Amino acid sequence: MKNCNDHPKVLVIHGPNLNMLGKREPDVYGKTTLDEINKNLENQGKSLGLAVETFQSNHEGAIVDKIQDAGELQSGLIINPAAYTHTSIAIRDAILLLDIPVIEIHLSNIYKREPFRHKSMIADVAAGQISGFGTYGYKMALDAITEMIKPAN
Ligand code: DQA
Repeated sequence: MKNCNDHPKVLVIHGPNLNMLGKREPDVYGKTTLDEINKNLENQGKSLGLAVETFQSNHEGAIVDKIQDAGELQSGLIINPAAYTHTSIAIRDAILLLDIPVIEIHLSNIYKREPFRHKSMIADVAAGQISGFGTYGYKMALDAITEMIKPAN
C-alpha cells in the first residue's frame, strides 16, 4: 500500500456546489449537509482503521492542486467532481498522474438525468464509479477503497 507509514489515509474531494448540500435541490441531492457526510466518513474511517481527510472546492485549479498532492500523501482518493465530472480534462489528467486507487462518486444517478450529465471525463480513469445511492454512496466508496488499499496477504 502506498503512503502508509502508520496507517492508510484516504482523501475525499467534493467539487463545486457540494458545500451547499442540504439546501441545494434537496429533491435531487437529499437533505444531508456536507459536514454530516464528512463526519460520517471520518467516523467510518476510524472504525476501518484509516484516516479520512475531506476537501471541498468550487475551483477547478484548487482541485487539481489537491489531486497532485494526493500522489505523495494519500493511499486512496474518493472524488465527487460534481459539474466538473462532465467538463474537466484538467481533473482527468491530474487523476492520471496518480498510482493510488481512485473512486468516482455521485449522489444522483447521472445516467437518469439530462444527457449532458451522462458523459463523465473521469469514469474511464477511475477504478470504479458509484452513482445514484445518495449519501450511502460515500459509505460504499470508503468500504470499497479500503478493500483496494488493503495490503496483499
Ligand atoms: C453530482 C452530479 C453532477 O452532474 C452535478 O453537477 C453535481 C452533483 C452528484 O453528486 O450527483 O454537482 O456530481
